Formats: sequence, structure tokens, C-alpha cells
Amino acid sequence: MPVPMLELAPQNAAVKARVLEGLSGLIDRSSFILGDNVKGLEAEISAYAGAAHAVGMSSGTDAQLAALMALGIGAGDEVIVPSFTFFATAGVVSRVGAKPVFIDLDPATFNASGALVEAAITPRTKAIMPVHLFGQLADMPGIMAVAAKHGLPVIEDACQSLGAKGWGKSAGQFGDMTAYSFYPTKNLGAFGDAGMTAIRDDAALAARVRRIRVHGMEPVYMHHEVGMNGRMDEFQALVLRAKLPMLDSWHEGRRTHAAWYLERLQDLTPDEAVLPQEVVPEGRHIYNQFTIRVPGGRRDGLQAHLRERGIGCAIYYPICLHEQPCFAPLGYQTGQLPESERAAKEVLSLPVYPEMTPAMREEVAVAILGFFGRS
Ligand SMILES: Cc1ncc(COP(=O)(O)O)c(C=O)c1O
Repeated sequence: MPVPMLELAPQNAAVKARVLEGLSGLIDRSSFILGDNVKGLEAEISAYAGAAHAVGMSSGTDAQLAALMALGIGAGDEVIVPSFTFFATAGVVSRVGAKPVFIDLDPATFNASGALVEAAITPRTKAIMPVHLFGQLADMPGIMAVAAKHGLPVIEDACQSLGAKGWGKSAGQFGDMTAYSFYPTKNLGAFGDAGMTAIRDDAALAARVRRIRVHGMEPVYMHHEVGMNGRMDEFQALVLRAKLPMLDSWHEGRRTHAAWYLERLQDLTPDEAVLPQEVVPEGRHIYNQFTIRVPGGRRDGLQAHLRERGIGCAIYYPICLHEQPCFAPLGYQTGQLPESERAAKEVLSLPVYPEMTPAMREEVAVAILGFFGRS
């Protein structure tokens, strides 16, 4: 039985009737951008994530870009970011003319720690952007303590982690601002691109993000600063509002599959495969990805073995950002961030979407165990 890495159709079928009905009303009203659905979604996400303000954006990338712009970060500034993440986290820093300063990761979580952030601070540091990679929170108490000590703002990259929890809080309740992505493969996915910037408690900062979203304009045709077009579509907002009530049950579906994999694959030794660890106290890993490590140069062999058997799997991410050609002028060398470089060689993400059946995950587990000569 083939097992795709991800299948969106069954989940989207669950909201199809509601979305079609909403779309019909939208066409009748013909108000397509920044309308009642965007306003409603902003209120619902701000309540769900526990942040005081939320601003609907055109993508997660634009949500991060607007956050940096609202903090006034630009040429000559440095922003601390992980090297092992999706490109956008660092791309937006360069986009505002600032310099991404790459840090290594904690191998237990793939995420940044307070100590790693602290070691990268210089007099030019203007912000810290931790990423909650794969659905688990970074060491936010440690990072926030370092930020407070140095008086630096924190932008959480929760593009993969809306609803992730730890230390009694949710992604979005730690940093000054937080970016979420609703790219279709996220746990809460739109029918196209969409994102959100949440602002923890600062109403003036929220107002600035709102203004930046519409070319720095307020009121109409009065431009106080050069912003961007970061507007969210009404259609995406209505899709996301139809899905949001189901999000917690989808998180639980992923967590059930993850717990099952952890038990079924528990006999694998650390030199065969290392399973993801949920280490955050009072945590809820939402498993946007279930990512194992395969050390000893066998990762690509396992990937080929799974693919031959029709099992989807993927490498997030095969190249660290400090080794990307576009960042060569920053002067990083291979070997400088060893844990990130090791992760890029070892990681393999397995199917973990909520609609997967028990028979499908058994197929994945049997194929992995077979590769290592086990049953
Ligand atoms: C960690 C991370 N940061 C940023 C983004 C950018 O989000 P988007 O694709 O919505 O622009 C993504 C998603 O793709 C992501 O996974």
C-alpha cells in the first residue's frame, strides 16, 4: 500500500461544503481583501494563540518581514537566526538590509537555546528570531532571559507551530511578536498562501504592523513610511476560519501517530535511528513534521528504501542556511555550525498527517525496521 508523505484532500473535503457556501457569499458581496473574514480570523487566532493582537498577512514570510520592519530593523543591524530552518527566517533579515547571524542548534530538539543565542550577541544585535522547528517550542525561557538581559526584542518564528505549547504557554506568548504561516502543508493550512503576525501586548506595535501591511498608509493615500503589500485575502481567511475549530483534533491525530511510532520503533539503537524527543516541560509538540535522525551515512539509503516501497518521506532541510550560495558573502565556513550540518545530513521526516490510518503507519514502520534487518 503506498503511503504518501502528506495527503491534503481528505482534510480539505471535511470543510469543502462550508467553504463553497462561504465562497458563494463572498462572490455575492464581492469584497475580496481585508474584510470581515480577515477581521474575524485575526480575533480567533489571537484568542487561540493567547496574543493580544493579530494581523492577517499574505504569507508567513511577509508576517516575519512586517515584524522586522515594525521594529525598524535595517542596514547595519544584526538579527540572530538558526541556520537549520526554512530559508524565509533568514531571507527576511537580508530583505530589510540587515545581517543574519547564524547559530547552531540543540541536537535534542533541533532548536536554539539561550546559551547559543547569548554567544552570538554583539553590539550590533537588534533582534532574536528563534524558530519552533517541526512543531516543538525552542528554549523560550532561556532565550527570553538572554533577550531581557540585553534589552533585545524577540520575534518567534512559529510558522510550523501554531498551537505548540510549553512552560504553561503557547507559541506566540513569549516573544514581542510571532509569525505564523498558513501555507497549505501546515497543521492549519489555507487554500493558497496566507500568514499572520501576532503581537504579544504592544498596541502601538500592532498598529504599526497594520499600517506596514498596506504600504504604510493611514488614512487612505497618506503614506507615513514605505511599507509593503502584505494583505490577506478574504477567501483564505474564510477557509482558515472553517478549519480552526478542528485544529486541536488534528494536532491530537498527529500526536497519536507520533506516540505510536515512538513505541513501534523503540528497539532501534541510536546508531541506527534516533527518534524525535518531546522534551519541553508542560509541552505540546504538534508534529508538523515527525523527523528522525539516521546517523552513519545511511539516511539516503533509508530514504531510497522507503521510496522503492511507495512510502513518502522528505528531507527538511538538506542544506544549512550558512552554507547557502546567497549567503556566501557573509563568510561562514563549513564546520562552523557542526550540529546544524550534522542534522542536515541525518534528518528524515516521515508521514504523520492526521488522516493516516493505523495500517499506513504500520507499513512505514515495517519498512524502516526491515531496512535495519529487524521486524
Ligand atoms: C520555519 C518557517 N519559517 C517561515 C516560513 C514561511 O512561511 P510562508 O511559506 O507562509 O511564507 C515557513 C513555511 O514555509 C517555515 O516553515
